[in-house]
Amino acid sequence: MSDAQTITELAKRRGFFFRANESYGGVAGFYTFGPEGAALKRNVESAWRDRFTVREGNDEIEAPTIAPEPVFEASGHLDGFDDMLVECGECGESHRADHLIEDASDIEEAESLPVPKVETLVAEYEVACPTCGAPLAGRSIEEFNLMFETGIGPGSGQRGYLRPETAQGIFVEFPRLKQYARNKLPFGITQIGRAYRNEISPRKGIVRTREFTQAELEQFVDPDDDDPPLSRVADVSLRLYPATEQEAEGGGYVEATVSEAVDDGIVTSEWVAYYLGVAREWYDRIGVDMDRFRFRQHLPGERAHYAADCWDAESEVSGAAENPEDPTDGDWIEIAGFASRGDYDLSKHATHGDDDFTVFTQYDEPRTVERAVADPDMSVLGPEFGGRADDIADALRDLAGRDPGAFGGETVTVGVDGDDVTVDTEVAGFRIETQTEAGEHVMPYVIEPSFGVDRTVYTLIAHAFGRDEVDGEERTYLSLSAEVAPTDVAVFPLVGDAALETLADEVVADLRAAGLSVAHDDSGNIGRRYRRQDEVGTPLSVTVDHESVETEPTTVTVRDRDTTAQVRVPVDDLVTALGTLLEGEGSFDRLLANYDRVDTDVTRS
Ligand code: GAP
Repeated sequence: MSDAQTITELAKRRGFFFRANESYGGVAGFYTFGPEGAALKRNVESAWRDRFTVREGNDEIEAPTIAPEPVFEASGHLDGFDDMLVECGECGESHRADHLIEDASDIEEAESLPVPKVETLVAEYEVACPTCGAPLAGRSIEEFNLMFETGIGPGSGQRGYLRPETAQGIFVEFPRLKQYARNKLPFGITQIGRAYRNEISPRKGIVRTREFTQAELEQFVDPDDDDPPLSRVADVSLRLYPATEQEAEGGGYVEATVSEAVDDGIVTSEWVAYYLGVAREWYDRIGVDMDRFRFRQHLPGERAHYAADCWDAESEVSGAAENPEDPTDGDWIEIAGFASRGDYDLSKHATHGDDDFTVFTQYDEPRTVERAVADPDMSVLGPEFGGRADDIADALRDLAGRDPGAFGGETVTVGVDGDDVTVDTEVAGFRIETQTEAGEHVMPYVIEPSFGVDRTVYTLIAHAFGRDEVDGEERTYLSLSAEVAPTDVAVFPLVGDAALETLADEVVADLRAAGLSVAHDDSGNIGRRYRRQDEVGTPLSVTVDHESVETEPTTVTVRDRDTTAQVRVPVDDLVTALGTLLEGEGSFDRLLANYDRVDTDVTRS
């Protein structure tokens, strides 16, 4: 079994995730998160919210997942959100041409190549249809738009689309959001929610699906004024894979702290560098293996035309990377993107929408400036141009601001509704005025850290997966961090003794009342129950055994998932002891030092 198959099998058997709608045959690219997976995903989202919303002082919103067509006309998704599709002439199956090239060659990121180049490569590498084996050389490659279209309301009078990213829901609401932020830059808005892409070839379980969850942060900054709080992450070490290294023969990683990456010009945007640092710490905190993690810079052809710089967080998920220092080793997936988007998004919506997408920023002191203005004489324009006079006056005022030099002659010409209209400069009322200004309208720049939640979940499972031997039997386990593990504690009473079961009920109730998520498992022998919990990553298991009620004070055993070491803890101490451990404030070793170690083997009870 490949590593991907092992994870998919475990995920299905233990209720992390599985293909949706299987009773109806299922459709590729849609997955249901089962009880363990939904809890793990929820915990990842909570950890993200804690770090990127709460601790950054940002605000979270929840926008609709469907938006009308003009939103995506403005955002550019209607025209440019395409993947390269090649259809097999033999079996009719569709495939992503760039992925086929990557599979058939050493080429990485083939999506950055132009379509004609990919058509040539399909022939050069004699790429065959993965479904039926027929050659694909000579087949034309089509640009396929990934958005799901829908009709809004009866009669489908209005066309809409399921959002392909949560970001647009933040951008379109900017005129209102800036008011909540009291018109002060910088400020950040986050959103966690579903996004939809009609992927040509969904693959690797939840890694590439047609419906998935993103956690996105749009950081709005003043392009001239705002610096990030870089000192907070200045010393965080980053493993960087810059574009120049990717393009160089035998290129490798650059290890640098955040401040070195900025000082050496490796990461050009300080805001992007700041969020790389924050993200590196966050991924480490939730249990991503830092030996299988890197930041890869987009190649020039891969970068969106508006993005000044873009880096992806990538994780290696096959478990096959033998040399973590070698970027070509292993199976890397993109789990987040960090883009410096300039004012592209807000400018687009400002042009297409009806609102003001700028922020009025106050100067420290009012400034005196000279402004060219036009104050047209309407008593002349009115009689001469009738109903067009107002539009001509507006065009003159606009021209004065844009091109004062145009008023240098006897007459001045403006374009109105496609016609050139000429008026005397004197009638235009052109002059230079001295004005006092309190501030100016600024179109904010956007820095966007955008995380894939499903891929983070997949990475956590892949990195936590382990096998060892316990009591002579092979064991599979997930060493998930306590913060994200679906269940905090499992409680097992030995069966067949009412007193033990009553005590177990009380322990479960106490732990749940303390806010812990508790699995109460009383089926099968204790060894099998341990194995079940090890496989879903439960950090601690509590067993209520005969000794629990035979001695004073009443005790239970507590077992550590990773080492399988056990201690006997008085029930009265349990909530505090486990709470401290799960909060990450203590270690199991401290428990071993404070309480009696249990060496008896209860696994066969
Ligand atoms: N707003 C920017 C944006 O959407 P993206 O790189 O297209 O950027 C961000 O998506 C993240 O969403 C990716 O890094 C990835 O983790 C996740 N993602 C994108 N497409 C996905 C898919 N089809 N299935 C699962 N996750 C996906």
